[in-house]
Amino acid sequence: MKFFIDTADLNQIKEAQALGVLDGVTTNPSLMAKEGVTGKKNILNHYQSICSIVDGDVSAEVIGTTFDQMIQEGEELAALHPQIVVKIPMIKEGIKAIKYFTDKGIKTNCTLVFSCGQALLAAKAGATYVSPFIGRLDDVSTDGLVLIDEIRKVYDNYGFETQILAASVRHTMHVVNCAKIGADVMTGPLSAIEGLLKHPLTDNGLKKFLEDAKKMQV
Ligand code: G3P
Repeated sequence: MKFFIDTADLNQIKEAQALGVLDGVTTNPSLMAKEGVTGKKNILNHYQSICSIVDGDVSAEVIGTTFDQMIQEGEELAALHPQIVVKIPMIKEGIKAIKYFTDKGIKTNCTLVFSCGQALLAAKAGATYVSPFIGRLDDVSTDGLVLIDEIRKVYDNYGFETQILAASVRHTMHVVNCAKIGADVMTGPLSAIEGLLKHPLTDNGLKKFLEDAKKMQV
């Protein structure tokens, strides 16, 4: 499973990259606004900075909601850097835009996906990634992992190549359970990735080994 970090914070991205297990980055307008990135020039520069830190795919989201707006913005974003993936919302015009970019060989990430039917449409349009938001489903008492499982089944039934990018991952158990189900990618905060490191028996075991190592007088 690929690990993407879901942030526009350059320091967090550098920290995740330094760990050596980072495969890409996802952003959205809320994450960009949180970093105080404003104005077209700064936004485009920020995406370029992210691409210079990581080796993998970097999702940059369009803001427009008409086909023409999404095409214009998406082409501009894709031209920025070969690592850019154009992130497009799951709306009717968005599906048309995904098909357009697919035909042009430009990678897309279909975002704001909350049902299996939406994921099926995204795959039919040829999206590179589909982003079901599991944390936000959990927030409304609906098990987000069930959706990942359903999409996995449907994509496997027909051999769709669209990668399931489990998004709105909030914690370490989301990561582990997505891996068990077979999500292709997960995107979440650095804390969800670093949480995988933790086990008290590891800490206790290391403490004892280091104590005993002192007796070895190396
Ligand atoms: O990638 C989608 C993600 O940014 C949404 O996460 O935590 O805002 O639901 P969250």
